[in-house]
Amino acid sequence: MKILIVGSGGREHAIAWKTAQSPKAEKIYCAPGNAGIEEYAECVPIRAMEFEKLAVFAREKEIDLTVVGMDDPLVGGIVDVFEREGLRIFGPRRDAAILEGSKAFSKDLMKKYGIPTAAYENFDDPKEALAYLEHAEFPIVLKADGLALGKGVLICNTLEEAKEGVKTIMEDKQFGSAGNRMVIEEFMTGREVSVLSFVDGKTIKCMTSAQDHKRALDGDKGLNTGGMGTFSPSPFYTDEVDAFCKEHIYQATVDAMAAEGRAFQGVIFFGLMLTEKGPRVLEYNARFGDPEAQVVLTRMKNDIVEVFEACVDGTLDQIDLEFEDNAAVCVVLASGGYPVAYEKGYPIHGLENFKGRDGYYVFHAGTKLVDGEFVTNGGRVLGVTATGEDLKTARANAYEAVKLVGFEKAYCRGDIGKAIDEV
Ligand code: AMP
Ligand code: GLY
Repeated sequence: MKILIVGSGGREHAIAWKTAQSPKAEKIYCAPGNAGIEEYAECVPIRAMEFEKLAVFAREKEIDLTVVGMDDPLVGGIVDVFEREGLRIFGPRRDAAILEGSKAFSKDLMKKYGIPTAAYENFDDPKEALAYLEHAEFPIVLKADGLALGKGVLICNTLEEAKEGVKTIMEDKQFGSAGNRMVIEEFMTGREVSVLSFVDGKTIKCMTSAQDHKRALDGDKGLNTGGMGTFSPSPFYTDEVDAFCKEHIYQATVDAMAAEGRAFQGVIFFGLMLTEKGPRVLEYNARFGDPEAQVVLTRMKNDIVEVFEACVDGTLDQIDLEFEDNAAVCVVLASGGYPVAYEKGYPIHGLENFKGRDGYYVFHAGTKLVDGEFVTNGGRVLGVTATGEDLKTARANAYEAVKLVGFEKAYCRGDIGKAIDEV
């Protein structure tokens, strides 16, 4: 088969690496890809939002299956464009990707179908939001409705902060049109867990659990980022939690989408919070997590192309997902200054140290090749990932591996997986 992957981050590198292991994959393309992905795929300079160009490319190259990694093209309707052209594609249509594309939609869906989540109200008018806040309890959470690069969530401790937040989101439009609507939500406490799943419209099969580290600095300090590191599995995702989510959340979400005439095909990423009252949905994403994919896919035993096809063909009920009985940890090596201002173009050294080392992976996020040399080209640069027989071993291996690579002004969190010590 000829397969096209759409995206350019560490997640797409992990998807390309996993796809390359499938005996079904004869040729892989990635648009636009990055310097690391070129090891497994031919990268083509078409941007992820150029749907028509991508469809023309897929037709010309006789691509058998396209796999979309990123949220923007999914929410923008890339799947609809491909399907209209008769091209096979893994991912939700626009009317289903709204599960991630609109927080107000997803909250209303959960309320309508009794899926456990934080109490909330949606607002189109900043004046009404401000009036509501006068009588609210603090802390409280404000969320821009649309996609905001993971930054559209503000946790406000006081009325003053919340008023400022309404201004930021709805009046100053710091997150653009994502802030035309806003969700105001009850603040919850508990551990966060990411559960990614494959869905074929009616059947859902969950992957192993993972935990992200969203803040830039050690001790969960600093600004929110796309994710500074992950581990899998989460020791806090117990059988009891799993049973609750199976009963109240996973299938219920898939059935709710189907009942709304928005059957979901692709990956649903459940961002869960394990509260004292039980698991609650924090958010849905309509794609693999980044860097959750790096730790989940390195543990997955299945041929991923078979799973992608089962989702597209509606035969996921015939697949059993299997994961290694081990653990994985991913430590993101970022450019100094990320997620605000950072420089690009620094040479990356040590990548050759990963060649032929089983259980060690360096997934590229922001990299590019200049005159045959790998250089930094983004905020998150590399996802250094290692497996091990248990979480502590995987973590030790990942931090050992981080020492093997580097570039000027590189930084990483030193406490990825620290929560493991509390078990
Ligand atoms: P989201 O983009 O919805 O995942 O939100 C980003 C982060 O904000 C989450 O990973 C949580 O850490 C935090 N968050 C979101 N909603 C809530 C909530 N209702 N209560 C507490 N923290 C939240
Ligand atoms: N790592 C969180 C996300 O991909 O949204």
